[in-house]
Amino acid sequence: MAKFLVQKSEPLHGEVSISGSKNAVLPILAATLLTDEKCTILDVPALRDVDVMCDLLRSLGADVDKKLEENTVDVTASGEINSEAPFDLVKMMRASILVLGALLLRTGRAVIHLPGGCAIGERPVELHLKGLKALGATIDQAQLAKGIVDATAGKLKGNTIYLDFPSVGATEVIIMAASLAEGTTILENAAQEPEIVDLASFLNKMGARIKGAGTDTIKIEGVEKLHGVSHNVIPDRIEAGTFMVSAAITHGRILIKNMLPDHLKAVIAKLRECGVEIEATDEGVIVDGSKHKIISTDIKTLPYPGFPTDMQSPFMALLTVADGPSAVIETVFENRFMHVAEFNRMGANIKTEGKCAIIPGGKKLKGAQVVATDLRAGAAVVLTGLVAEGTTEVSQIYHIDRGYEHFVDKLKALGANIMRIEE
Ligand code: UD1
Repeated sequence: MAKFLVQKSEPLHGEVSISGSKNAVLPILAATLLTDEKCTILDVPALRDVDVMCDLLRSLGADVDKKLEENTVDVTASGEINSEAPFDLVKMMRASILVLGALLLRTGRAVIHLPGGCAIGERPVELHLKGLKALGATIDQAQLAKGIVDATAGKLKGNTIYLDFPSVGATEVIIMAASLAEGTTILENAAQEPEIVDLASFLNKMGARIKGAGTDTIKIEGVEKLHGVSHNVIPDRIEAGTFMVSAAITHGRILIKNMLPDHLKAVIAKLRECGVEIEATDEGVIVDGSKHKIISTDIKTLPYPGFPTDMQSPFMALLTVADGPSAVIETVFENRFMHVAEFNRMGANIKTEGKCAIIPGGKKLKGAQVVATDLRAGAAVVLTGLVAEGTTEVSQIYHIDRGYEHFVDKLKALGANIMRIEE
């Protein structure tokens, strides 16, 4: 099993360029199944989750040409499409559920064995199914009780759908399905994440008629057919946020290129409260943590445009070295404090109670053997490793490989003392 060895590092300096967004490219790849013409996706990050999605598309019958050294993937789904997503791929990546709408539209049936809950929570899909039912699909309840989504549909018909929670995945599945439904769909309390906007802009280029993506009400007028197009994926806002924290925690100063600061307003505001200077320039965003100590602050995760849950653990890494106590409230996932035990192994002394974590701050962290408990938590323990005395050994780094392209190389180029060892 591969590991990272991280050592206390000098303040990071230099520049880093942000890769294409993992969470944007996964639904976009799923949406390529909606046309039998060729789609070319550009700025695709070379990540394990992208590999899994490409394998899934292949297993469903699409022709996938992945050129990840060029960050490009071509997908042509012109042949017969299978209705059933193989469990061995679905269990590797929960985002496999994103093919649900496309399978229904292409084959009239979608069968996906749901994996159980993951480390950060149960992650149910009842909102995805509620949306598809409203569009006319039938869900086999007996199969659902066994953890298998088995949906069938004739021609889907537009409807008004209210999401009880602005689920990102449900919003994506519903706008894909509604794009080729008959008539108009209004999706209320929709997720507003930039990745939804990117998916809608991809679908609109293909010929879909989607308005309002990025707001809480999305209107989709169904069309007869979608066409093959080429599309550049937006930069990864969570990768950008993680590098912002890497500069702050090490009291460094870095230039982040290919980052859209508008997608990170909440994170930027909180970093400024912590005393980090941030300036958007023509070249990129300069993050300067060299001038001040880190001031404690409180954060509460929320759906976009609130503070992103995916930045909760990297930001908590920063708060462990702040000048006083901070509180973190996690409202999006029910069990997203797995990293607290890892930070505590390094001496952070964080206490949790339900959705709330209290971080005393001001601790001198010590290197330890820690685990990447999930993707973002993995990045977070690497960040603490950069400021902890001695060596931090991070295991289960396959989680980090799922979502950070060339993480070690990018950190090393900024002067971080990190290496990957294969055991
Ligand atoms: C996406 C992101 C993930 C991010 C999350 C929240 C991708 C591939 N992943 O995940 O990185 O952390 O958004 O920003 O884009 N929920 C329900 N019922 C449902 C659906 C969701 O209760 O039917 C709950 C979930 O359990 C969770 C919350 O809603 O507590 C958010 O989930 P959702 O927005 O659906 O996240 P994902 O699309 O899975």
